[in-house]
Amino acid sequence: MDFNKLGHTCVVGMHWGDEGKGKIVDLLTEHFDIVVRFNGGGNAGHTVVVGSEKFALHLLPVGILSPNKTAVVGPGVALDLAGIIDEIDKLAARGITIGDRLRISDRANLVMPWHKKQDNLSEAALGDKKIGTTARGIGPCYADKMQRATAIRVVDLAKPDRLRQKIERITQFKNTMFTALYNDREPLDAKAVADQYLGFADRLRGNVTDTTMFLYEAMQSGKRLLFEGANGTLLDVDHGTFPFVTSSSTSAIGVPAGAGVPAQTLKTCLGVTKAYTTRVGAGPFPSELNNDIGQYIRDRGHEYGTTTGRPRRCGWFDAVAARYSARLSGITQIAVMHLDTLTGLDQVGICTGYRTPAGALPGLVSDATLMEQAEPVIEYMPGWKQDLREVRSIQQLPAETRDYIDRLETLIGVPISIVSVGPERTQTLMRS
Ligand code: GDP
Ligand code: IMO
Ligand code: MG
Repeated sequence: MDFNKLGHTCVVGMHWGDEGKGKIVDLLTEHFDIVVRFNGGGNAGHTVVVGSEKFALHLLPVGILSPNKTAVVGPGVALDLAGIIDEIDKLAARGITIGDRLRISDRANLVMPWHKKQDNLSEAALGDKKIGTTARGIGPCYADKMQRATAIRVVDLAKPDRLRQKIERITQFKNTMFTALYNDREPLDAKAVADQYLGFADRLRGNVTDTTMFLYEAMQSGKRLLFEGANGTLLDVDHGTFPFVTSSSTSAIGVPAGAGVPAQTLKTCLGVTKAYTTRVGAGPFPSELNNDIGQYIRDRGHEYGTTTGRPRRCGWFDAVAARYSARLSGITQIAVMHLDTLTGLDQVGICTGYRTPAGALPGLVSDATLMEQAEPVIEYMPGWKQDLREVRSIQQLPAETRDYIDRLETLIGVPISIVSVGPERTQTLMRS
């Protein structure tokens, strides 16, 4: 793949998150000028490994790690100010200065303390029906954005008196609501919240801007944009495995709205997937392996959440879901990650269909009950024993691994251009 020929590009996850988007965005950043987050918030955890250094970013776009690159937090992000300031400080302590390389949209909605509280209270009340959220206040923040009257945006930080009034009014409302709904007896203190947020505003004032105009002018002057998707396509609020999803548009079709760029902007859409499938939190996962093989994958792949530390559920590669995501986002190229993790298995499975007691499903369907009932149709291929972590070209891969990649490509119907055999930049093979 000739990166320099790529137009404005987005990177999105093809399953339920944690596909390795962070590594791919980091790899691509040198070929772009600006890296833009367009969705999600602190629920994301994007890992980048550079030599002996490991970074886990939640709100800052991964591009911020590369010197001289600009990073944009777009209007579609649920912005946790305490979280992003913490990340900035931690990077500064490691010698990475951000300065004006970070641009924050004045239209982004803020995650407020009541959002995190609401997330926790709501999940606890749902009991065994809970979504298994990351408790970062994402759902309640986006719900208030749609509600409008109870939302606070970055632009509101500029007018302290008005902000205080807004926080006072919303705090009263939320305290009443939490007591009535959840019998909560620890009301939030409006003044403390306002003082804290005005402090955040002081810290970030120089970074706030109209990012839609900033990106427009950047594109006009020939700058190249890389859009960093958070979460995964199957967690999309409209198109994912609802209701076990997040609350934003996680696929490529979320880019224009969430970043504030025209619909025809994207020239390339790179889908990222693991060579198997994982999921954190509740919800359907037809190819899940609740057995020794699932545990083997979890152990070898270090499949524990970057954001919450929860063990990830592991299963065979879900080609039905991958095909669905490719179609939805208009994926033009694919990166397959974690081939090294599958080493040592006698055979590797691919989920090629879903069946239910009522018959085969045509694909990933909207009916949550049918998705819960879905059993996987598995096709097995020979596994491989070779440690792939030192492999540096496609030709050096065992024939079984190459056959496996070829089969995935055929099933998804989109070229696999990048293959990853470890977390580091050097552990990346270009296939086309
Ligand atoms: P993201 O949310 O999509 O950015 O993915 P995460 O960072 O949450 O999870 C992916 C994990 O896999 C991280 O710990 C990466 O360092 C790691 N990783 C990425 N690619 C590979 C790979 O090819 N092999 C192995 N073993 N680890 C990888
Ligand atoms: P990255 O960007 C994996 C999942 C949560 C939960 C559901 C809803 O690192 O791939 P939320 O807190 O968003 O309301 O949780 O979505 N989830 C993720 N799972 N990776 C992510 O992000 C996720 N972001 C949200 O586990 O099931
Ligand atoms: Mg992650």
